[in-house]
Amino acid sequence: MSSDFRAILVLSCFALILSKPRLLRRAQLNGVSKGGEHPLWSRAGFKPRSRIHLTKFSFVTAILMVHKLRSNDFQDVVRLYPRASLWIKAYCALRFMICPFGRLEAVVPKSGRIVSVGDGYGLFANLLAIRSPLQQVIGCDIDAARMKIACSSIGDRTNISFFVSDEVPILPPCDAITMIDLLHHVPPSSGIEVLKETRRKLRPGGYLIIKDVDTLTRGKYLWKYAHDWLATRGAPCYYLGKTELCHLLQRLGFTVLAEPLKTHTPYAHVLYRRTKNEAVVQDREISSTPTNELAA
Ligand SMILES: C[S@@+](CC[C@H](N)C(=O)[O-])C[C@H]1O[C@@H](n2cnc3c(N)ncnc32)[C@H](O)[C@@H]1O
Repeated sequence: MSSDFRAILVLSCFALILSKPRLLRRAQLNGVSKGGEHPLWSRAGFKPRSRIHLTKFSFVTAILMVHKLRSNDFQDVVRLYPRASLWIKAYCALRFMICPFGRLEAVVPKSGRIVSVGDGYGLFANLLAIRSPLQQVIGCDIDAARMKIACSSIGDRTNISFFVSDEVPILPPCDAITMIDLLHHVPPSSGIEVLKETRRKLRPGGYLIIKDVDTLTRGKYLWKYAHDWLATRGAPCYYLGKTELCHLLQRLGFTVLAEPLKTHTPYAHVLYRRTKNEAVVQDREISSTPTNELAA
C-alpha cells in the first residue's frame, strides 16, 4: 500500500474517532472533561473549536476530496499510467485530492523550458505538459523507482522527459522551476544548495514556483507532521513557516510573493512565487550556509 495512502487512512480513522460526538458526550458524563471538550484535546491545549474543525475535516473534506477525482486534471494524468499498480494509482488520486495541482499549473508560464524538481511519479510535470504543449517540461527526483514509473508515462510525447537527480540536482538552464512539496523533505544545508542551483539556472526574468506547507495553524501542522511521519516511516522532515521561508528566499536573492492557498483539506498550503517582473538580485553574495541557518 502506498505509504501516503496508509498515512491518510490511519489519520482519518483517528480524526473520526476523536471527533465522534458520542465519545465526547461519554467523556463529559464521566466527568473527565468539564469544559465540553474531548479530554485529549483539552489536555493538548486545543480550543473548543478544534472538535468542530476536526469533524468538518473528517466528513466534508472526505466528500470534497473524493469529488476532486472527477476533475479533468486527475483523469487526464492518471490515464498516462495504465500499467501502474493499483497503489500507485491510489497515490496519484491522493496527491490530487491533497494538492491543488490545478491552481499551481495556472501560475506556470505556458511556454519555455520548465523544470519540476522533486517530481515524484511525474504527476505535476505531466499535468503541465498536457495542458501546455508549447512547454518543454523536465521532471527530476532523487528516487529512481519513482522516476522509472514517471518515464513509463511519457509514451510518444516529445515535450516531457525525466531524470534521476542527486540530493542537490544539477539543473538545465530554464524559464521556470517548480518545487511542489519538496523543500520540507530536504535537509537544510542541501535545501539551500538546491535553491542556489535554482537561482543559477533560472534565466533572467524566469519564474520560481514553490508549494510547501505553513507551520502556523497548529492543528494542520500536526496533521502534516503525522502524515509525513507515517508516510516516510519516521524520516526527518524540515518544515519552515511562511515567514522563515520568505526570509531565506530573500537572503538567496529571490523576491517572492507568499500566498496561502485555501482548500477544504487539513493542509496549510502556501504558494511562493517569484514572478517575472520582480528582479533577482544577481550580484548578491550568498555565504556558505551553516546547517542551522533555516532556524535563524
Ligand atoms: C511529497 S513528494 C512530492 C512529489 C511531487 N512533487 C508531487 O507533488 O506529487 C516529495 C518528493 O521529493 C523527492 N525528494 C526528496 N528529496 C529530494 C532531493 N534532494 N532532490 C530531488 N527530489 C527529492 C522525494 O523522492 C519525493 O518524491
